[in-house]
Amino acid sequence: MYSDKVMDHFEHPRNVGVIEDADGVGTVGNPVCGDVMKMYLKIDDNEVITDVKFKTFGCASAIATSSMATEMIKGKTVDEALELTNKAVAEALDGLPPVKMHCSVLAEEAVKAAIEDYRDKKLKEN
Ligand code: FES
Repeated sequence: MYSDKVMDHFEHPRNVGVIEDADGVGTVGNPVCGDVMKMYLKIDDNEVITDVKFKTFGCASAIATSSMATEMIKGKTVDEALELTNKAVAEALDGLPPVKMHCSVLAEEAVKAAIEDYRDKKLKEN
């Protein structure tokens, strides 16, 4: 049912953890199943994402998509990361079963929430 890539990212998720001094933190919940994801971003002065970590209290697909999403946005600018879609993440994993597509939305939304948090903090600083 799952592609090799999904299994790989589920069994060996990349970038799991917490960034204590993160520049942006996003927490999102999936209304379909109640699973939760937290994303931490470290962003430099050029708005490049230099580090990403995540924690997911969710299913295999949520873990695999968050793992893949962190790999896809690391080294990208904030604007580029905002363009990441759950479809692109699922495609990078060679697809998800249709009933599991809703799980991939968590990763996209967590990235967006973390960037929003970063931008809010910046506005307050200036
Ligand atoms: Fe909840 Fe997959 S079942 S994120």
